[in-house]
Amino acid sequence: MPQYFPPNSNAFAKWSIYGGMVFFIVLITVLAIFARVSNNKVGVAIEQPVAFAHNLHAGQLGISCAYCHASVETSAVAGVPPTETCMACHSQIRVGTEQLAAVQKSWDTNIPIEWNKVTDLADFVYFNHAIHVNKGVGCAECHGRVDQMEVVFKAEPLTMGWCLECHRAPEKFLRPREEVFNMAYEKPANQLELGQNLVEEYHINLDKLISCSVCHR
Ligand code: HEC
Ligand code: HEC
Ligand code: HEC
Ligand code: HEC
Ligand code: HEC
Repeated sequence: MPQYFPPNSNAFAKWSIYGGMVFFIVLITVLAIFARVSNNKVGVAIEQPVAFAHNLHAGQLGISCAYCHASVETSAVAGVPPTETCMACHSQIRVGTEQLAAVQKSWDTNIPIEWNKVTDLADFVYFNHAIHVNKGVGCAECHGRVDQMEVVFKAEPLTMGWCLECHRAPEKFLRPREEVFNMAYEKPANQLELGQNLVEEYHINLDKLISCSVCHR
């Protein structure tokens, strides 16, 4: 039988199949990375339907985070305030200005303002605010200095590796419970010692923190 194909053609055929599979896997991975990248990026301000400024309200005016994000200490979600919360002040302050027109409209029509999400985890990850806040993890640890932001941006990558940096060694980050809203809090020189005491005092279960099922339920 005449040889139509060179002797190594079988190997070639085999490798081209494997090659195709590898190429396919690489393609999927690249697409997945692109899908990730198109989400909100660290440090990029997200425009909002109202020019609400945290540096004015939470910074200069000193309004507590919990006044507007009322469920942050008691539930999984921090929540964004209803228009009613704004109107407690803006039915008297700066009434009728162009900057507040959308707020007034929402109040008159009873249609909530559609704020754009800044911090957004993939749906397959479980997150809970109350548990962090009540165990001494400050807002600034994950959201940065929101009190200095005119327009809020994502301050940290919020990738799995980033979450685990703390879950593997929470003593490096924990602060006393009463300091969680304190945006200007700085870690003391004896952070490790303080952190280890807090891990005990707050009964933090270090083994549970790194198990997959805590975040992927
Ligand atoms: C007067 C009300 C008010 C106060 C006080 C306030 N916020 Fe907000 N916050 C809002 C509103 C409204 C939004 C949605 C619009 C925006 O992103 O600016 C928001 C958005 C956010 C977001 C982004 C939410 C997302 O989609 O990921 C974070 C993070 C946040 N606030 C943290 C804080 C922290 C931390 C404090 C305290 C230092 C604080 N806020 C104080 C009203 C408030
Ligand atoms: C505790 C009172 C208080 C609350 C609650 C409050 N604000 Fe304000 N807001 C102020 C004050 C005070 C100013 C500054 C007024 C000035 O500069 O003269 C202001 C200014 C503003 C401005 C700029 C207005 C302009 O005409 O330049 C906007 C926009 C605004 N607030 C939106 C909001 C929104 C949206 C909410 C609800 C999420 C809210 N505020 C909640 C007190 C409040
Ligand atoms: C351990 C990290 C961490 C801490 C601490 C934390 N947050 Fe968040 N926050 C997140 C993540 C992650 C999301 C996005 C959740 C999602 O998409 O499911 C988020 C979302 C938000 C939102 C958007 C609304 C919502 O509930 O999804 C607001 C507002 C907010 N956080 C405010 C706060 C405030 C105020 C504090 C401090 C009292 C705080 N956060 C502490 C990680 C944190
Ligand atoms: C700075 C430290 C820190 C960071 C950052 C952090 N965590 Fe945590 N996390 C903790 C601590 C402390 C606990 C409480 C553990 C306990 O009570 O035993 C916790 C608990 C949890 C729990 C368990 C809740 C429950 O119901 O038991 C989940 C889920 C969780 N974290 C998810 C996340 C995710 C997702 C991220 C990243 C977006 C994240 N955490 C970032 C410190 C952190
Ligand atoms: C502290 C919370 C936390 C724990 C514990 C955790 N993950 Fe994740 N995981 C995340 C977050 C957050 C993401 C999403 C990352 C993103 O959207 O960029 C993620 C994403 C993933 C992905 C998707 C691919 C990727 O890298 O984005 C896989 C697969 C995964 N986790 C597997 C695991 C396995 C297996 C374990 C146990 C060894 C585990 N995770 C433990 C928070 C956690």
